[in-house]
Amino acid sequence: MLSKKMTAAINSQVVAELYSSYLYVAMGAWLQTEGYLGAAHWMGLQAREEVFHATKFYNYLLERGAEVKLGAIEAPPFKWKSALEVFEKSYAHEQKVTALIHNLMSLAKAESDHAAEIFLQWFVTEQVEEESSVQEIIQKYKLAAGQGAGLFMIDQELAARTLSVLVKDALTATPPAAA
Ligand code: FEO
Repeated sequence: MLSKKMTAAINSQVVAELYSSYLYVAMGAWLQTEGYLGAAHWMGLQAREEVFHATKFYNYLLERGAEVKLGAIEAPPFKWKSALEVFEKSYAHEQKVTALIHNLMSLAKAESDHAAEIFLQWFVTEQVEEESSVQEIIQKYKLAAGQGAGLFMIDQELAARTLSVLVKDALTATPPAAA
């Protein structure tokens, strides 16, 4: 059985992951409106990955027999100055999510909840990947320095992103998804 504290923290994490998805949907809409179609596609897939993360936490609550009690999701911003700024804000947001995951891990350790530690390890690794992929994109935008040809090339690269089979399968599974 999960502790009350861990149950509340994971319920909050479900909301944080859904907010991430909501934020990336908003970013995708802005990018699309500004003509960054590849970046909008990338962000749309990122939004779906965040739903996958939320589902993983939600399923974990159910598996451990804990109560799912979700809070409100705040409205995301809807305007940015440039594609570079969108990804910089996304990176800053991912850093906050990483801190949340690390807090959950610290709580699991403090409670000697070994099952939760093993479950959370996947997210610790995932955050390293998420931060690194956004950092790479930021670097590319900085190198392009707002020049049309560079921006076009980055957009083409971002357009090629696909969802992993793991995420695709989990999102198309009958709920609760086998994440
Ligand atoms: Fe669910 Fe991007 O962290």
